[in-house]
Amino acid sequence: MKKTVRVISFICALVMIFSSCATEKPVEITFQDNPVDRDNYVSNVTDPGIERSAEYLSSPKLTHEDVKHALDFIMSKVDDNVSTFVDKYPGSYGEDLTYPQTDNTGWTEGFFIGMIWLAYEYTGDVKYKLIATKHCDAMRKRLEDNISLEHHDIGFLYYPSCVKGYFLTGDEKMKETALMAADKLLTRYNEKGKYIQAWGEFGAVEESRLIIDTMMNLELLYWASEESGDKKYFDVANEHAKTTAMVIMRDDASTHHTFYINPETGNPSHGVTDQGLNDDTAWSRGQAWGIYGFNISYKYTGNPLFMQEGTKTTNYFLNHLPKDNIAYWDLSFTDGNEPRDTSAAAICASGLIDNYKYYDNEYKDIYLGAAHQILKSLSQKYTTRGAYSNGVLREGVYSYHDDLGINTPLIWGDYYYMEALMKLWTM
Ligand code: GLY
Repeated sequence: MKKTVRVISFICALVMIFSSCATEKPVEITFQDNPVDRDNYVSNVTDPGIERSAEYLSSPKLTHEDVKHALDFIMSKVDDNVSTFVDKYPGSYGEDLTYPQTDNTGWTEGFFIGMIWLAYEYTGDVKYKLIATKHCDAMRKRLEDNISLEHHDIGFLYYPSCVKGYFLTGDEKMKETALMAADKLLTRYNEKGKYIQAWGEFGAVEESRLIIDTMMNLELLYWASEESGDKKYFDVANEHAKTTAMVIMRDDASTHHTFYINPETGNPSHGVTDQGLNDDTAWSRGQAWGIYGFNISYKYTGNPLFMQEGTKTTNYFLNHLPKDNIAYWDLSFTDGNEPRDTSAAAICASGLIDNYKYYDNEYKDIYLGAAHQILKSLSQKYTTRGAYSNGVLREGVYSYHDDLGINTPLIWGDYYYMEALMKLWTM
């Protein structure tokens, strides 16, 4: 009898141990204990291919006249906005289709300035150069005074403004400002885990994560190395991109929005969404940042890993579009009445044109065709033409769960739409 009781107790103890293990979450991927060969990492993410490739290859492209028509409409908004936003900036998102006036303290001011530089490029009119230069001076002041810069969005703020301005004018002050901004971005780099911490107190365990959006901010760093000859910016960008490629992709080529990494051990922990539908789905704009962002890293490093993961990220996005090619705010929706996110469409279109230019693979012509179809749909169905608005594209979604900026223009959506059209215009 005693023996039977002992056996039963032993079985119970085993069950308790196993069940407590099963509920212990998250399971850590032990990079520290099983170090990954970062330079020879082979991804096992599947390439989903492109379901609508025949359609993208055969549908009529936008003509040069179509592109001009779309750009001229954007120019009408730029012209109004440069006279109303003099010392202020359009807010990140519209309210009743109208951007409010905000101070230079957010993460999106660079996009408005970038649109003015694109206007200068499009028209050659020196008035845009003068206006954008004044805004770049304001960006310099913001950096000197260190106003709201404790985050990863330094690239979004300083690349379309000061780097772009430096490209177009050769102005040394803009170059110096952008290099200072790159130094600021380096302060978010965690050497142990080899990633740039996106948000929050640097090094705090509960805030320590990388996010897919940051792939866009790396261009400032790659540029800074080329311009200064100092490899430290390149190294941080390249390592961050590798870490992202290793943790952000799910097996089906959808992407996590954010991924926690222990700042002390460097061990990646688990993926969580902030702006997508839930932790298991792909937030459309995040996936679009990934399309464009992997391309940036491939362009500067030539590492095939970035082209491979960028290709899979792109193909997953294209396979989850509704008929009219404008993504819903989360890629788990492919039809119905959920809000779209036109900004994700614009980012994707601009990234697709770069895929066409820089990726040497069997998809490149399909990518150009898809870019045309997305831009055609945006220009025909999703602009503010005929409405009272200082924005360009309707139907963006900023942050669904916070009920912020839903079905409204988003300043980066307008910027990437204009950028994509300019890429076609100058192609
Ligand atoms: N990078 C912030 C956003 O896309 O909402």
